[in-house]
Amino acid sequence: MKKTGKYDVVALGELNVDIILNRIDGFPEIGKEKFAGDMTVTLGSSTAIFAANVACLGSKTAFAGMIGDDSFGSLVEKSLAAKGVDTGYLIKSGKYATGATIVMSFGEDRANLTYQGAMDHMGFADLDRKLFEEAKHIHISSIFMQSELKRDLPEVFAAAEEAGVTLSMDTQWDPVEKWDFDFKSLLPHIDIFMPNETELGHIVGTSDLDAAVAAIVPYLKRAAVIKCGSRGSLLVGKDGSTHMLPSFLNRNVVDAIGAGDSFNAGFIHGFVKGLELPECQRLGNLSGAVNTTAAGGTGAFTSKEAFEKTASEVFGVSLSSRA
Ligand SMILES: Nc1ncnc2c1ncn2[C@@H]1O[C@H](COP(=O)(O)OP(=O)(O)O)[C@@H](O)[C@H]1O
Ligand SMILES: [Mg+2]
Repeated sequence: MKKTGKYDVVALGELNVDIILNRIDGFPEIGKEKFAGDMTVTLGSSTAIFAANVACLGSKTAFAGMIGDDSFGSLVEKSLAAKGVDTGYLIKSGKYATGATIVMSFGEDRANLTYQGAMDHMGFADLDRKLFEEAKHIHISSIFMQSELKRDLPEVFAAAEEAGVTLSMDTQWDPVEKWDFDFKSLLPHIDIFMPNETELGHIVGTSDLDAAVAAIVPYLKRAAVIKCGSRGSLLVGKDGSTHMLPSFLNRNVVDAIGAGDSFNAGFIHGFVKGLELPECQRLGNLSGAVNTTAAGGTGAFTSKEAFEKTASEVFGVSLSSRA
């Protein structure tokens, strides 16, 4: 890993806006119109939650992604900057609109509709190559929502490897459920692979976690960390060693929106600090747990002090001085 870099972390790709409609009168029906009782328009996307929270923990973070030259694009840019994420690498497309997800909440359940917009059209050729010199680490999430970036992964890997930049990836869910992810050729280029257990099962083609882990081990570059919801996470080393770490259980979950992204933020914050992988995993579990104490993906990450206060008051844990 590079010793230095202008940015500890560059988050690459996925950016959009969430239009959250709450207290809906009933399920949308073709040919009819209904009321929602409440609406919030906010920065969305799993990669943006990751970027905001890793910056909150103290990693110097930049975002390289494509937005439209429109009002949603300005919302994305301003919201990232307000979270302390450098926006200098954002690309403003004159051709494509900023994407959005309409989130319809029915009680505890949600129905989402996403227009990918600009993020689907950002390929390797759009990237300012300087970012590979300035980054120590690159994180990619939601690869199935970004067809051009997915197509160009070999170029991204080559540029990162040439510049000595480490790379992590959380695939997230595949909205078309084809799970077209050639793990045998891709995993050897990903230092830290971080899907959840369901996603890993779909990628490998088995619902048995042990079998899925055995299938990926020969292709790991360094490690995988598999997120298992309230059960915790499983760290898998390139040598086949495994370490299941139970979660810091929160019995009063506000919601688990973004818990996986916050896990990634905690883990990668430790990784770029040079902590040992089990310590990164512990920081991941703690960040996922802290995430569940407040609404949405960034509610519990208002400052590092607030994070440490929750960690100590709710979970009885203090951060090591190295984190
Ligand atoms: N109810 C919970 N209490 C404490 N920690 C949790 C809870 N739910 C999730 N976490 C933590 O957050 C991490 C990520 O959550 P998970 O739901 O597995 O991710 P994803 O959103 O990617 O599916 C888990 O590995 C766990 O450590
Ligand atoms: Mg996830």
